[in-house]
Amino acid sequence: MKRLTTLLLMAAVTLLCVAKKSDWVRIKNGDLWYDTAGNVVQAHGAGFLQVGDTWYMIGEDRSRSWNPDVNMYSSKDLKTWKFEGKIIENGVTHEELGRSRFIERPKLMYCKNTGKYVVWCHWEGRNYGASEAGVFVADKVTGPYRFHAGERPLGIKSRDCNVFVDDDGTAWFISTIEENQHLGFFRLADDYLSAVECTQLFKRQAREAPAIVKVDGTYYMLSSACTGWDPNQCKLSWSKSMTDGWSRLENIGDKIAYDTQAASILTIKGTKKTTYLYVGDRWMDPDLPRSKTIIFPISFSDGQCDFTYRDEFEINFKTGEWREVK
Ligand code: GAL
Repeated sequence: MKRLTTLLLMAAVTLLCVAKKSDWVRIKNGDLWYDTAGNVVQAHGAGFLQVGDTWYMIGEDRSRSWNPDVNMYSSKDLKTWKFEGKIIENGVTHEELGRSRFIERPKLMYCKNTGKYVVWCHWEGRNYGASEAGVFVADKVTGPYRFHAGERPLGIKSRDCNVFVDDDGTAWFISTIEENQHLGFFRLADDYLSAVECTQLFKRQAREAPAIVKVDGTYYMLSSACTGWDPNQCKLSWSKSMTDGWSRLENIGDKIAYDTQAASILTIKGTKKTTYLYVGDRWMDPDLPRSKTIIFPISFSDGQCDFTYRDEFEINFKTGEWREVK
């Protein structure tokens, strides 16, 4: 009897260990990602939305290099990606798309006020001359997405972009404006479908690929210089207000952001800890279709960001903790 109890106890401990171990997901950088159907994941300049325990990722399908459709994938661990479909498709969602228009940096938000899913993106024409923003809307996260608008927000020339939704639901479209000179912080209307106000910041500092996260009441922004597909120094700025008081840009990481350009910052809120994950594009590695998506944990405190590349790391989505791979 004693022997049986010991055996049962040992089995229980083993089971517990196995269950615990499987909560840790190892993410390795530098390789192409494949979806659950075995196809290369194509979601560059990615935007993310968390719905329950599922992450939805949308991004540029660069398999033909130019004129990307927008693909959507879902995942619970940022490693196993299920293809959910082309949520915006050339010639289908809009007749000019794929001909005189193309999309870059699609970003996804959920609007609590309307119950709709809203995509903002860079909506462009030949030689980046149009400098417009595109807006699409859907009733379900997986679509179908309808074209809502493609224009210069508030009449302002707008290129590289991102979105940020604050704790109180206020949504922002942040983009590189007026021929890559400044950043425009566009406050969106309650339905997220149009811009109502623009604050010009980082004047004549030529920043792009902005990515904003709020940590303990402070906004932190990562951004790059405008050097096309070539990587450059990532810089950090922080503020207590979205429209005022941003600190001077400070260099973080190495000189080329570990060969990446910011796409998003994810907040992984667990039972024990909140971890922030940097998501960047390693463009042209070795060509546009095979550009890689790079993820690594970063942290923020007192106006500083620890922006240290990790080739691989492990993360526990339940507790929110991450750890080095030994
Ligand atoms: C980068 C920008 C990308 C894309 C590229 C085209 O500066 O971040 O989104 O527009 O230029 O050369």
